[in-house]
Amino acid sequence: MIFRQLFDGLSGTYTYILGNQGTGEALIIDPVLEKAERYIQLLDELGLKLVKALDTHLHADHITALGVLRDRLGCVTVMGRQSAVDMVSMRLDDGEAIEFGDIPLRAIHTPGHTDCSYCFLMADRVFTGDTLLIRGTGRTDFQNGDAIAGYHSIFGKLLTLPGGTLVYPGHDYKGDTVSTIAEEKAHNPRLQVSNAGEYAAIMDNLHLPDPKMMDVAVATNLIIGASVSDPLVEKNALCVAEARRCMEKDEAVFIDLREASEQRKAGVIPGSIHAPYAELSGHIQPGGMLRALAAGAKTMILYCAYGERSALALRALKDAGMENVRHLRGGFDAWSRDGGPTAGR
Ligand SMILES: [Fe+2]
Repeated sequence: MIFRQLFDGLSGTYTYILGNQGTGEALIIDPVLEKAERYIQLLDELGLKLVKALDTHLHADHITALGVLRDRLGCVTVMGRQSAVDMVSMRLDDGEAIEFGDIPLRAIHTPGHTDCSYCFLMADRVFTGDTLLIRGTGRTDFQNGDAIAGYHSIFGKLLTLPGGTLVYPGHDYKGDTVSTIAEEKAHNPRLQVSNAGEYAAIMDNLHLPDPKMMDVAVATNLIIGASVSDPLVEKNALCVAEARRCMEKDEAVFIDLREASEQRKAGVIPGSIHAPYAELSGHIQPGGMLRALAAGAKTMILYCAYGERSALALRALKDAGMENVRHLRGGFDAWSRDGGPTAGR
């Protein structure tokens, strides 16, 4: 595994790049907008293709690079189920594994700093975002923060990990880079409490000023937006009712771009063909499955979880010369909410 810890001095943010040397795929955790060019250059130098960009939570102190990395590199954006961010492509639940080559990365929902905070556990290390910092913990006094919930996330989840688990936080302002669960348990001053009430008493009396960038960062991070300001994508988007009419007339073949884990969790549109977004380039090439389907009489309707991956894929298919293709606006989420038929995988 390739592992890089990168630092943004302005916000004190750590960003992590994990690269799978076997597959050449990479994911990035908590990227900062101003550093996007640096990440892109480094990924290129390391010969890695970015497949996923994750934010541990909605950040108040810097603007995320999720949207830019998605638009530039076509990666899938990932956050927790509870995130209020508009166009995140994949939403995780507590305990869910992120598919990333053969290295499992497990999502742990750790509300407290924010209600949408997640940590990511990977083998010997855990990426703790702002839930657990080195000799500190993330503040719980804004963004639906909750000190009691934070106590249970830290004590009930993180501190139950093996003591040697490496702790890689989302920030550090003192120059520390890594710690361990055992070290934090023993020496983190905020964790020397015997119950949730004692912890909340500490957290509720920090009297910290708001982060300098809070107003602009939270507002901007909530709307990373779809890359479907692209008129071509807009013109070829179908609403659920339109897609259902195509289905009823047997005029369409539905292409599911989600990963198998998302299908198992949420279900599928009956009869759809599975072509995970990560494998798209192979399916588009001459001899590829989607190219063969595009030559048929039926309209291809691409869908994913929320309509982000399908918008990116639509552009790629159109660029490859495929005409009879549309994408489902709002994805499977909109389909199932509007009463579209679904089936188990
Ligand atoms: Fe934060």
